[in-house]
Amino acid sequence: MILRIDRLGVELPPPSTPDPNGAAAVQELMGGKFGEMSTLMNYTFQSFNFRDRKSIRPFYDLIANIAAEEFGHIELVATTINTMLTGASLSDAKDGAYKQHFLFGGKGALPADSHGKPWDGSYVHSSGDLIEDLTHNYFLESGARSGKLRVYEMVEHEAARALTGYLLVRGGVHQVAYARALEHLTGADMSKLFPTPRIPTEKIPECKPHLDAGLHLKLYRFSPDDYKEVVAVFNGKHPETGEELEVVDSPPEGFEPKDLPAETDVFAPDYAPEEIAEIANKLRKKAGLK
Ligand SMILES: [Fe+2]
Repeated sequence: MILRIDRLGVELPPPSTPDPNGAAAVQELMGGKFGEMSTLMNYTFQSFNFRDRKSIRPFYDLIANIAAEEFGHIELVATTINTMLTGASLSDAKDGAYKQHFLFGGKGALPADSHGKPWDGSYVHSSGDLIEDLTHNYFLESGARSGKLRVYEMVEHEAARALTGYLLVRGGVHQVAYARALEHLTGADMSKLFPTPRIPTEKIPECKPHLDAGLHLKLYRFSPDDYKEVVAVFNGKHPETGEELEVVDSPPEGFEPKDLPAETDVFAPDYAPEEIAEIANKLRKKAGLK
């Protein structure tokens, strides 16, 4: 089961100048082959299908626990897209890159890539062979980080920059985690064998605060009582900085999501939101809430 916390992993800026074409580019990080839906579903299915857990639990705990963090990443990508579409003009959208954001999505994120191609279950590689799956995950994180850097360079909107700055750092942790798992199993030093992508995160202003806070070293444990054996795999030194890797025994504290305003021209959440608010208010009172 998944326990859901109504907070975001990183603080995203409030809506500013809308950027619908930028939001279209950010969709690649949602439903592209190397997007967050792919990392979420790869690790989720690999954890569902994981056999003989009692014998090799540290590796199961690693994959299952990272899957949980990825849920929060798709939420961050969606929030970024919603932020960038807030206040966007419906009439201007006919010349935009991603009409479905307006025509179907109500200025919201969709489970599709930057061209509107729906996310595809064939992006999931769950072979049952642990070393094969971990190797796949290492390269999935490589591709995911390249994609994030390209979106960072393409889109200047501050919400997209805040998102990609954070995800570059967290994706780096996941890449290190899979590299460590493979090193424990095979002796192969993945980061030396395949040093890709080379991303100077310390030079990226939106990565810097997360590096200063040590987020490149920490793997959070996303469960009240489970996945404790992750410490047996996620340990040793960070391959690039030589600093000690660390398992944090809880999810990150996170940030309260910003309440994005209604967009009545696309009926989100309604053509007359105040009417629904009135109903909600009555229901709250009836339920004894304030
Ligand atoms: Fe991710």
